[in-house]
Amino acid sequence: MQATAQIGVTGLAVMGRNLARNFARNGYTVAVHNRTPTRTKALVEEFGHEGTFVAAGTAEEFVAALERPRRLMIMVQAGAATDAVIEEFAPLLEPGDMIIDGGNAHFADTRRRERSLRERGLHFVGAGVSGGEEGALHGPSVMPGGSPESYASLGPMFEKISAKVDGEPCTTHIGTDGAGHFVKMVHNGIEYADMQLIGEAYDLLRQVAGLSPAAIAEIFRTWNKGRLDSYLIEITAEVLSHVDAATGKPFVDVVADAAGQKGTGRWTVQTALELGSPVTAIAQATFARAASGQAALRGAYRGLPGGIGRDLTPYEAERFTAQVEQALYASKVIAYDQGWKMILDAADEFGWKIDLGAVAKIWRGGCIIRAAFLDRIRAAYATDPGLVSLLSDEGFAAEIADAQVPWREAVATAARRGVPVPAFSAALSYYDSLRADRLPAALTQGQRDYFGAHTYRRVDRDGSFHTLWGEADRTETEV
Ligand SMILES: NC(=O)c1ccc[n+]([C@@H]2O[C@H](COP(=O)([O-])OP(=O)(O)OC[C@H]3O[C@@H](n4cnc5c(N)ncnc54)[C@H](OP(=O)(O)O)[C@@H]3O)[C@@H](O)[C@H]2O)c1
Repeated sequence: MQATAQIGVTGLAVMGRNLARNFARNGYTVAVHNRTPTRTKALVEEFGHEGTFVAAGTAEEFVAALERPRRLMIMVQAGAATDAVIEEFAPLLEPGDMIIDGGNAHFADTRRRERSLRERGLHFVGAGVSGGEEGALHGPSVMPGGSPESYASLGPMFEKISAKVDGEPCTTHIGTDGAGHFVKMVHNGIEYADMQLIGEAYDLLRQVAGLSPAAIAEIFRTWNKGRLDSYLIEITAEVLSHVDAATGKPFVDVVADAAGQKGTGRWTVQTALELGSPVTAIAQATFARAASGQAALRGAYRGLPGGIGRDLTPYEAERFTAQVEQALYASKVIAYDQGWKMILDAADEFGWKIDLGAVAKIWRGGCIIRAAFLDRIRAAYATDPGLVSLLSDEGFAAEIADAQVPWREAVATAARRGVPVPAFSAALSYYDSLRADRLPAALTQGQRDYFGAHTYRRVDRDGSFHTLWGEADRTETEV
C-alpha cells in the first residue's frame, strides 16, 4: 500500500467517522480503520464521495497507508480500549510518528501514555475534542496537548477542521502531555455548572414566579439576545417550548427528572479535590445530578415541610425575573472563574504553561459552552494575561457589583420558598468567602489544635503554636 494519507483515523463510531469525514472534506487524504471492518466499509461506501479515503483492513495496512512522520488518530472508548489500541499500533510505528488520542481520556492516563510512548520515541497527543458528533463533522473545538513539535505538525490540520469564530480557528496548543485532556475535562465541568444554573433559573421562574415552560422559553429567548447569549440558553428555549406530541403536555413535564453524571464531570470534581481547587458550583452541579437519581432517598424526603410564601403579583414576577437573570449571570461568572482557577492550579502542579485567554478563545465555537461571554473572557486576558481571577477584571467586577443585591434576593427567595438552588447558592457563598476579611477557618484551626494538637499560625507573629488546652491557664507554646 502506498503511503499517501496525511492522517489516519482508527475507531469509526460516530465521532471517529465524522472526524475522518471532516479531514477528508478539508482536502486531506484520510486512512480509515476500525476493529470491525464493516464500519470502515460503510464509511467509504456512504461518504467516499466527500474526499479521499484509504480503507485499511488491518493495522499493518493502516500504518502503511500513512505518510511519514505518521499521524494516527484514535477515536475509541476511553480506558482499556485506548490502551489496547495504542499497544496494537505503537510497535508498528517509527520514532517521530504521532499517536493522537481524540477520545475522552482521563488526563492522568494521557500523562502516563505520553511518558511511556516518549520513551519509545513516539509523540503522544491527548487531544480534547468537543462539540459531539455534529462538532466532529462540521468543526469541533480541539484541545491538543503533547509536545510542541507534534503541534507544529498537527496544528495546521486541526486549525483547518476546527470551528471558526471571527475567522479564527477554535484550537490551540494547550500545553504539554495531558494539558489538552485536562482542559477538556474542565470544559465539561463548567458545562455541568452552566446547565445546572440554567436549570435552577428555570425552576425559580416556574415555582416562584408561576410561569409556564412556554413563557420561560420566551424569557430565555430574550436573555439570549443579551450578555447570556450562548448555545445552552438557545437550546434551553427550544427544549422548554417543545410540546410532547403524545400527551400535549410541555415536553419538560413528561421527562423523568433524574440526570446522570458521566465521567468527565465527576473527574473534574475528583481532580479539584486533589488539587485543592474550590470548584463549588461545578461540584454542586455534579451532586445535583447525583441527588436527582436517588429515587429511594427522594421518596423518603418527599412530603416533608417546605417553603413559605405566596403567589407573586405580575409586577413582582417581572421584578423577580430580572433578579434571576442577574443571579444566573453572576453565578455563571463565578463558575467559570472556578474552572479557570482550577486550570491555573493544575498548570502549577504539572508544569504546564496555559494561556487562559487562548482557552476562552477556542471555546467560543465548536463546543457546548460556546457563548458570547467567552469573548469577554478572552478580552479580559488580552488586557491582563496575568489575571488571578475574572473578578480582577474591571468589567466583570462592575457587573458583579451591580448583580450582587438581586443575586442575594434571588437566593434568599429560593430559600424562603423552598426551591433548591445548590449552584446559585454555592456560587454566592464562594463570592462571599473570597471577599471576606476573615473566615471561620481561624476557628477550625483552633478546634484542630484542641483535639489533635495540629498547631496554628498567628496573625501577629511568625511560627507555629499549640495551646495546652488541658491546663487551667491554657498556656501557649511555640512549636
Ligand atoms: N459521542 C460523543 O458525543 C463524544 C464527544 C466527545 C468525545 N467523545 C469520545 O470520543 C471517543 C469515541 O466516541 P464514540 O462515541 O464515537 O465511540 P465509542 O462508542 O466510545 O467507541 C466505539 C469505537 O471504539 C472501538 N473499540 C472499542 N473497544 C476497542 C478495542 N478494544 N479495540 C479496538 N477498537 C475498539 C469500536 O470498534 P468496533 O466497531 O469494532 O466495536 C468503535 O469504533 C470516546 O473516547 C468518547 O468518549 C465522544
